[in-house]
Amino acid sequence: CGSSPQDEGSEGAGNAEDTETKKTLRIVTDAAYAPMEYQDKGEVVGFDIDFIKAVAKEAGYEVNVEHVGWDPIFVEIESKRADLAVSSITINDDRKQSYDFSHPYFQSTNKILVPEGSDIKSAEDLKGKKVAVQNGTTGQAAMDALLGKNSPDIKKFEDNNLAIMEMESGGAAAVVADNMVVEEYAKNNPDKNLTVIEDSAFDSEFYGVLFPKGSELVGEFNDAINAVLENGTYTEIYKKWFGN
Ligand code: ARG
Repeated sequence: CGSSPQDEGSEGAGNAEDTETKKTLRIVTDAAYAPMEYQDKGEVVGFDIDFIKAVAKEAGYEVNVEHVGWDPIFVEIESKRADLAVSSITINDDRKQSYDFSHPYFQSTNKILVPEGSDIKSAEDLKGKKVAVQNGTTGQAAMDALLGKNSPDIKKFEDNNLAIMEMESGGAAAVVADNMVVEEYAKNNPDKNLTVIEDSAFDSEFYGVLFPKGSELVGEFNDAINAVLENGTYTEIYKKWFGN
């Protein structure tokens, strides 16, 4: 750590002085969820990544962002091997029992991705169809509720790209996942002729930064999130990834 005897005013000093003594945070993610978090030439990038870097900087921390995969995120946070996770993680009561969340920073909802011309036009139409989801996501939870918890029609994959591949290879009629992700995929792959369907049956969701229960970082990060929302940085990052 960079603390030195010359450091003045450790009591009540502003962020600038604190910066030097703060540790580098280990941030984990599932970088298979473009444009939110994905890998580009080995580097982890995306809206969430720019967002958390801006927030951490505001709070005076250096960060290391590491792709570990979806299920491992929760293992890394629960065991406190990682300081926090950012991965389009929806705040819900279930997760709140085991983890702490920051304030919400992004709104989303599940949507349905289907091949153009599919007879699926609504969530109701998914009944009796094979649906691919990422295991342990709110998309899976929505399908558990709609099709039955242990329905063999729900095909679960450890990452969302595998769920999409399943649909493309004909093993599933649809994918259910977060709107930004399915919309980006359909838009970036015009040759694949995909359609995105929204349905009011799917809840409105809010993403939060995930912390180990009782983490002392939560308060600092909430303040920093507020600052980034108010000082225009959030808007800049939003425009970079989503336009307008
Ligand atoms: N928002 C959904 C959830 O929290 C899906 C998030 C998946 N994130 C990812 N990076 N694969 O369950």
